[in-house]
Amino acid sequence: MDESNLSLKEENRKLRKILKETKDELRSVSDRLNTIDRQKDEFISMAAHELRAPTTAIKGYLSMMLNGDAGDISERVRGYLADAQATNDRLIRLVNNMINVSRIEEGKITYQIDDVKLSALAGAVYSDFKFEAERKKLGFSTEIQENVNDLVKVDPDRIREVVANMVSNAIKYTNEGFVKIKVLDSSGGMVRLEVVDSGPGISEEEQSKIFRKFYRVKSAVGKTIGTGLGLYISKLIIKSFDGEIGVDSRMGSGSTFWFELPRQ
Ligand SMILES: Nc1ncnc2c1ncn2[C@@H]1O[C@H](COP(=O)(O)OP(=O)(O)OP(=O)(O)O)[C@@H](O)[C@H]1O
Ligand SMILES: [Mg+2]
Repeated sequence: MDESNLSLKEENRKLRKILKETKDELRSVSDRLNTIDRQKDEFISMAAHELRAPTTAIKGYLSMMLNGDAGDISERVRGYLADAQATNDRLIRLVNNMINVSRIEEGKITYQIDDVKLSALAGAVYSDFKFEAERKKLGFSTEIQENVNDLVKVDPDRIREVVANMVSNAIKYTNEGFVKIKVLDSSGGMVRLEVVDSGPGISEEEQSKIFRKFYRVKSAVGKTIGTGLGLYISKLIIKSFDGEIGVDSRMGSGSTFWFELPRQ
C-alpha cells in the first residue's frame, strides 16, 4: 500500500469520527429540545387548568348579577357587567383552546359522543354571544333552514367550541353590519353550519394560512386580542369527526366561515 493511500484512509477515519461525534451531539440537543418542549406543554396545560376554576366562578357570579339575583341594576351597570362577562368568556375560550390543543395533538382527548342537533348548538352559542353583539351594535341572528336534517353524532361540547370560536371571530373582527349563524342541508350526506359576517374580509393569500397554529392576519395583530389558536383547534376538532371546514371571503366583502359534518 503506498503512502497516499494510507493518508487517504487516515483522512477517511478522521472524517467518520467527526461525523459520529456530530451525530451524537445532534441527538443529545434534539433530546434536550424534546424535553423542554414537553415541559413547556405541561406548564401551559397546568396553568390553563389552574385558570379554569376561577374564570368559571367569575362567570357564575356575573350571570347571577345580570339575572337580577343581587337586586335591580341600572342600565349602566348592566353594560359594565356585560363587558366583564364577554371578557371573561373570551378568557374561558382561550383557556379551553390551550387545554384542548395539547390534548388533541397528543391524541389524549376522549370525546363524549352524543346525538346532537346543530340548530340547538347554534341557538346555545347565539345566547352566549347576544350581549357581546349588542354591545358592538351588530345585527345578530340565526337562520335555520326549514325541515333541515341536522342530527349529527359528535361531542357537543367540542363542536360548540368550534361554533363559539367562529362567532367570537366574526364579532371581534366586524365593526359594522351583521353576524349570522346558519344551519342548512348540504350535499353528500353532510349538514352545514355557516357563520356569515359583514366584516373586513380575508385575502385569498391569508385564507390559506389562517387555519395554521398561531397564525394571525397582520392587520389583526396589535388591534385585537388573540393567540391564533381558535381556527387551528377548530380544524383539528372538525377533522376528528370526519368533517370539513373552510372559509369563503373577499377583501371588503365580509367572510363566511363554514363546516360540514356527516349527518346521522
Ligand atoms: N370573521 C373574520 N373576519 C376577518 N378575519 C378573521 C375572521 N376570523 C378570523 N380572522 C383572521 O384569522 C386569524 C386567525 O383566527 P383565529 O381564531 O385562529 O385566531 P385569533 O382570533 O387571532 O385568536 P384566538 O381565537 O386564539 O383568540 C385572526 O387573527 C384574524 O386575522
Ligand atoms: Mg379567534
